[in-house]
Amino acid sequence: MGGLLGRAALPGLLSGPRVPGPRLLVRPSSGGSSWTRERTLVAVKPDGVQRRLVGDVIQRFERRGFKLVGMKMLQAPERVLAEHYHDLQRKPFYPALISYMTSGPVVAMVWEGPNVVGSSRAMIGHTDSAEAAPGTIRGDFSIHISRNIIHASDSVEGAQREIQLWFQSSELVDWADEVHQSGIYPP
Ligand code: PPS
Repeated sequence: MGGLLGRAALPGLLSGPRVPGPRLLVRPSSGGSSWTRERTLVAVKPDGVQRRLVGDVIQRFERRGFKLVGMKMLQAPERVLAEHYHDLQRKPFYPALISYMTSGPVVAMVWEGPNVVGSSRAMIGHTDSAEAAPGTIRGDFSIHISRNIIHASDSVEGAQREIQLWFQSSELVDWADEVHQSGIYPP
């Protein structure tokens, strides 16, 4: 799924208003430097759900400091997967990939934070689990590309497309980060 949607725009696979773009300038109310708000799609794949790894994934992203703004468990519709993996439809592994991705529920999430797209890709590790470094999610929990636990968008533009594909705007929560802005806890 790594940013594999080659089209500039997606058809309306899901009804409802579009999700706002992931890049907006954020100015902390408590002062400090502003940063460009970035969002990414992360999805725990069926093997990750079945192996009870959802909590570990969430913990890693929270401890890194990223902000969860959307999350849902769903049986991925084939039409969404077909769009998501549009650029892979001619690959020999495509039927196996769709079979894998429909073998159970996935947990789709939207995470927000500075450079969250690049950081997420580093945190999940190499697409081929055999190449994934220890300490990354795939490097810790997976040994084969066909069961590689997790997806994360591979570019800011890809993230925007994927978030729009998987989430309606009403499913994303733009909550105020009062804890970090209060100065009581470290950011
Ligand atoms: S490619 O061939 O270079 O375009 O593929 P790649 O960018 O490495 O991976 C794109 C997504 O396809 C998944 N993939 C596979 N799934 C199942 N079996 C095999 N053999 C396989 N090879 C690649 C890979 O995990 C990527 O999906 P996401 O969801 O981004 O992890």
